[in-house]
Parts: sequence; structure tokens; C-alpha cells
Amino acid sequence: MLIACVVGARPNFVKIAPLITEMRRQKIDYWLIHTGQHYDHGVSQVFFEDLEIPPPDTYLGVGSGTHGKQTGLALIKLEEEFIKVKPDLVVVVGDVNSTLAGALAAAKLHIPVAHVEAGYRSFDRRMPEEINRVLVDHIAQFLFAPTQDAVENLRREGIHPSRIFYVGNIMAETLLRNLEKIKLREKHKEFDLQPRKYALATIHRPENTDNISKLKRIVSAFSNAPLPVVFPLHPRTERMFDEFGLRRLSKGHLIVTKAFSYLDMLSMLQNAHLVLTDSGGVQEEACVLRVPCITIRESTERIATIAAGANRLTKAERRQILTAITEIVENGVPSWVIPDRWDREVSKRIVCVLKRSFSNVQTGKSLMEGSKWN
Ligand code: UD1
Repeated sequence: MLIACVVGARPNFVKIAPLITEMRRQKIDYWLIHTGQHYDHGVSQVFFEDLEIPPPDTYLGVGSGTHGKQTGLALIKLEEEFIKVKPDLVVVVGDVNSTLAGALAAAKLHIPVAHVEAGYRSFDRRMPEEINRVLVDHIAQFLFAPTQDAVENLRREGIHPSRIFYVGNIMAETLLRNLEKIKLREKHKEFDLQPRKYALATIHRPENTDNISKLKRIVSAFSNAPLPVVFPLHPRTERMFDEFGLRRLSKGHLIVTKAFSYLDMLSMLQNAHLVLTDSGGVQEEACVLRVPCITIRESTERIATIAAGANRLTKAERRQILTAITEIVENGVPSWVIPDRWDREVSKRIVCVLKRSFSNVQTGKSLMEGSKWN
């Protein structure tokens, strides 16, 4: 059995890491393809190093572009690659453009697709990721869901239960497997900060970065927060900062810095009093690390974190952001229960399903025949 794994952007690397480790442990042949959607050292190679992911077997160099250009180029190059490599299965993770391109190229070649992180829905079709999620889930054979609500979303969309596997959250597994290294890192010391005496912020979604007045409101809220706010910049956000001279607004409590590596980011998060973000993965990581999260978006697909009481949504308005921060600072950190199956066994569950399915094929049974993770 040869499994091709497709990654392209920062959060993909985090999600593929434990799966590659587990496949290597179980001596399953895999072929790792990096589309090159993210290419800067600080958002690509650094993640491979921190997470000890072996270098990709193929790098496609797709790069940046409009959604059509980026997805289209990845589709063309992935199709050529699959024809050459002839995998028995293609694994795609998350919801970025490379995820959609990988699933589509494989499905058209009649190669079964496994989607890790299936079933998340923000119900906001203006988000490119939402389009990617819906399309991938409807062309994949194996849908590996992180939460019970994701399972329910898939069922509501009419997907047959035999394709859905409730395996848990792979991002949580990556975090738990790196916890010792994260604890040792103490990145906050580089900023002369004390644990729990600062907030961490990440903002990179086009809905927040590409509208300059919105971005200014966010930056102004961070600058006026009642505690220091460390704000590592994604390349897109950094470009907007430079283009619109936002560094001048970055005063008061705001500390602007370069994008962090995986371990630096998680070290900063672990010691933060709270986190402000529009990222999907950070909402989950904060939940696992018991750091309260304020999500600066109108919707989230990570509703398990909201249901747990670990996360709340806030509009990109200065006053609303400041009120949310002040409430957490004044009321203290609430306690919550981490969602079920956000543990260290997620990659094992996934590999168990895939191995069994392929042994079914070898013994003449159907690929999708029952599993305890259904
Ligand atoms: C992508 C994902 C998003 C994910 C994010 C994580 C899609 C639709 N979006 O968004 O879901 O949360 O990755 O970071 O797939 N750039 C660089 N260097 C790089 C990569 C990008 O400078 O290595 C700049 C380019 O100007 C580029 C812009 O960032 O145009 C956006 O990159 P892109 O990959 O298109 O989307 P992200 O915003 O990173």
C-alpha cells in the first residue's frame, strides 16, 4: 500500500506530522508531496524542522496567486505526480487550496481520498476554506472527523455513515506529542515578559487583513489592551503593515514581531494569559493548553471550543475586542473540559482504519467495510 500525502500551507504541516510518524512506525510506504503554496522559510521549512517531518519527496513550487491560479496550478501538478507515483490512496489534511487540489486530482484519477479534519463547517461560504471543506468532503472516501459536531455536519449533508470515522483532532495530537519541547522553550523570555502577563495575537485572514480600516481597528485595540500583546505577523499581514504604514500605529502595549516557528508559537501560547486570533488551529491549541481564546471572526467551524467555554467570537471592532480582553483579565481563567478524542491516539486510529480497509480489498471485501471508529 502506497499512500501519497499532500501538504501545502503552514497548518497542513502541523496536521501531517503525527501521521507520517505513525506510518513510518508501522512501515507503511508513503510519498510526501509539498505543493509549495507556502514557500518562505519561516512558514514552511521551519515547520518541517520543528516537527521533525522528513523532507518532502516532491516539491511542486506552486507558490502564491489568486485562488483559481493557485488551486489550478496545484491540480495540474498533482495530477502529473499521481500518474507518476501511482499511489493507492491520497491523504489530504485541513482546508487550504492545496487540500482541494489534491482531493480533486486524485478523485478524477479514481484514487481513493482520505480527508483528515473532515466535517468542520463555518456555514459561511465567503470563506475560501469553507468551499474547500465542503467539496473535499463530498469527493473523499474516508472522512476523518475531529469532533462529534463535524460528524453530524457530514451526516446532515447526506454522506453515508460508512465513510465517516470519528477519530479526534490530529492538531491536538501534534501539540501533546511536542509538549515537553514546548515547555522547555520559554520564548516569552526573549520579550522580557512574565508567564500569564501578556496576550498573544495572530491575524491573517483576508476578511481582517485586506480591509485596511478593519485591520487598523484591530491594531488599535491591541495597542490599547490592558496587558502587552505580542503579534507575530503572517506574510500577508506583514505586507499590509508595510503598505499602509501600520507599524506607526503599533505602539502602547503592542509588540510586533516576525512569524513564529511551531515550537515558538506554542511556547508563547502556553504562557499567555489569553490569545486573540482569526486562525482555526490556534482556537484548538488554546483550548488544549487551557488558554482563553478570543476569535476575531463572525463565525467559526471550531464550535467544540465555543461549546467547551474555551473560546468566544468577537467582531473586528475596537471596543468589542477591548471589552472581551478586559473581561478575561478581570474575571480570571474559566475551567473547561477538553473535547473527546483530542488526544495522542488520533494518527493511530486513522492508520488503523486505512490498514483494515486495504486488507479488506486484498481479501475481496469492500474498501469501506465497518470500523469501530465509524
Ligand atoms: C492559507 C490558507 C488558510 C490558512 C493559512 C495559514 C487557503 C485558501 N488559505 O492562507 O486557510 O489559514 O494559509 O497560514 O488556502 N505569502 C508569502 N510567503 C509564503 C506564502 C504566502 O509571502 O510563503 C504571502 C503572499 O503574498 C500570498 C499571501 O501570503 O499571496 C497569501 O498566501 P496564501 O497561501 O494564498 O494564503 P494564506 O493567507 O497564507
